[in-house]
Amino acid sequence: MFKPTPTQEFFISNFALGKRAGVFMASTTSDHFSGRNLSINGNEFLSFASCGYLGLELDERVVEASVDATRRYGTTFTTSRAYLQHGLYEELEDRFEQAFGAPCIIGASTTLSHLSVFPSLVRKEDAIITDRQAHNSLQDAVTAMVGRGVHNEIVPHNDMLDLRGRIEKLSAVYDKVWYVADGIYSIYGDFAPFKELKSLLEDFPKLILYVDDAHGMGWTGKNGCGLALQELGHHERLILVTSLSKAGACGGGLIVLPDEKTKNLVRATGKTLTFSGPLTPGQLGALTAVADILLSNEISDMQNQLFDLCTYFVDQAEISGLTIIDKSISPIFYVSIGDPHLLAEVTAMIQKNHKIFVTPTGFPAVPKDQCGIRLTITRLHTKENVDALVRAIAVEHKAALQRRASAVNPD
Ligand SMILES: Cc1ncc(COP(=O)(O)O)c(C=O)c1O
Repeated sequence: MFKPTPTQEFFISNFALGKRAGVFMASTTSDHFSGRNLSINGNEFLSFASCGYLGLELDERVVEASVDATRRYGTTFTTSRAYLQHGLYEELEDRFEQAFGAPCIIGASTTLSHLSVFPSLVRKEDAIITDRQAHNSLQDAVTAMVGRGVHNEIVPHNDMLDLRGRIEKLSAVYDKVWYVADGIYSIYGDFAPFKELKSLLEDFPKLILYVDDAHGMGWTGKNGCGLALQELGHHERLILVTSLSKAGACGGGLIVLPDEKTKNLVRATGKTLTFSGPLTPGQLGALTAVADILLSNEISDMQNQLFDLCTYFVDQAEISGLTIIDKSISPIFYVSIGDPHLLAEVTAMIQKNHKIFVTPTGFPAVPKDQCGIRLTITRLHTKENVDALVRAIAVEHKAALQRRASAVNPD
């Protein structure tokens, strides 16, 4: 009854390729988790695929707070937040407001937070410019606004000259011009050009900057406020949404708004804050412990520890000749490998021969000939783990290229 479209066929065949190589749609078979070691189909792996950058998901205080809240309040509290929310929400928003230095709302996820903020704040008289590589959750939220008659244009990735021209043109016609982008892009780990964005905010009074900093939170910035806030600072025309399920170690999204009036507007009219289910007491309890860690002196030591590991990775990768697409120091890196078949072969060999799990990435997330390995480093890794990772990629990439060359020229 449901015939796949050609694009869906492409995805299905890519997944089949990855599944055969044991790198897509796998499930863990561990009965516990140490943050970096896990088992898949009974085989132990060292994983470089977690977005729990600070490793807080295994911090005893966070685990205990989650268990304690579940014991006291049960596994869920399911009244609509329009009528009654769990009291832990208020405590949490207070803590995040202290950490982020601005009015905050906790959403059920980053995606659902976008789906509250856009319809609450964007008007038909506004225009939205989207970065071509903005995360899918942003693209979907913008598409929903286009469905309501809002004008949208796509700008090439991080192209500030093109963006400036469009803002100038659209400012003459529309009430507000929104620029929608990620703070740190989740595939290559490259950053938004914050310095240029700051000058655009100064130059164009109609510009509103909407940043999804899902991967930027926790590992950097004062109190873990994240990359975008650290680089941009607060601004009356900056709206930020970040994730609490990556470095935040629990679940949910965090909406950071410029003032109380805007917070009240989004809280009262944000559709997913009324019509979607709330976080569970277990998640809220865990987040309270995470927020306490962000507000403590401990956070900068944690951040420095991770920063050192990420810097070490870049140094070692360069020595080994790996092609890292963006060397900005963050916990996300992308090593370019080649076409999808080479990528599937290299990742499968990394798993088989080195017992290391990394995530292969292909078209349409990246250009067809730039398939590669996306990897993430967390505070729970060691330098020895990083050495093993770099060695595994370098050895298996070289071996696969040699096999291919000898298949073409058998002599
Ligand atoms: C940049 C970015 N934004 C949003 C999301 C979606 O986050 P959530 O699962 O909280 O909706 C992701 C997911 O990984 C992401 O990478």
